[in-house]
Amino acid sequence: MRVLAHLSDLHFGRTEARVVDALLADLHRHRPDLVIISGDLTQRARTRQFAEARAFLERLPAPSLVVPGNHDLSPLYRPLARIFRPRAKFHRSLPDHDESPVWNDGEVTVVGLDSTRSLRWKSGALKGTHLDHLEAMLAESPDGAAKVVFLHHPPASARAGHPYETLVEHDVDLVLAGHVHHAHVELINGVHGGSLVLVQASTACSTRLREDANGYCLVRLDGGHMEVGVQGWGGEAFHTVRHHWFEKRTGTWRMVPRPSHVFPP
Ligand SMILES: [Fe+2]
Ligand SMILES: [Fe+2]
Repeated sequence: MRVLAHLSDLHFGRTEARVVDALLADLHRHRPDLVIISGDLTQRARTRQFAEARAFLERLPAPSLVVPGNHDLSPLYRPLARIFRPRAKFHRSLPDHDESPVWNDGEVTVVGLDSTRSLRWKSGALKGTHLDHLEAMLAESPDGAAKVVFLHHPPASARAGHPYETLVEHDVDLVLAGHVHHAHVELINGVHGGSLVLVQASTACSTRLREDANGYCLVRLDGGHMEVGVQGWGGEAFHTVRHHWFEKRTGTWRMVPRPSHVFPP
């Protein structure tokens, strides 16, 4: 079994220290195998904000994978940096993190895609280069390993076609995204069969709240069984707001109303 913590939209520069501390305490309590962060680590890609983000990563109880979000690119009011070196601070500040990270431990393969575009602020889209990278990485995934893709912008914001179809065709089990600051869990069926689970996390610890409280997601994967727990800020601590359960039968994920599997403690 693997436990993945999915965080997004930390927005250092606009965080509340007690929420950050409680978030770290909750993560230490749940002891994930891996922490996946789907972008917007900073509010305005400032050096100090990246330093805060790096200090946060160093306090995590597990290895972390990170992709940039639109807020992590050089800001639009610095047009030259935005055009020619949009990710310079991301790379300089987080030297241990690649913008297209990959994790493969035999049970789970996780591929991060950089969905930001240097000349667009809000809309990111999957491009051919992403798909080439994805195919190459998934080709190395061992038989039976769960396939997880994470990116900042939910693929629904891609403009053409059924953006999830390619991911379903590549047997991706789980897509993790952020950007919209709203927790959402959904089963997405492919047009020609197959399915995947989409998990969007709220903003983990920033005051940039939209229609949801601060939160993150805990995904437990055990063979063909998946449990998605939505963790939410309750004012003093994070607690479990709700669970969603899925099981995979004949290659297709289905949502089940209650756990059909006992996950190891
Ligand atoms: Fe954000
Ligand atoms: Fe964003």
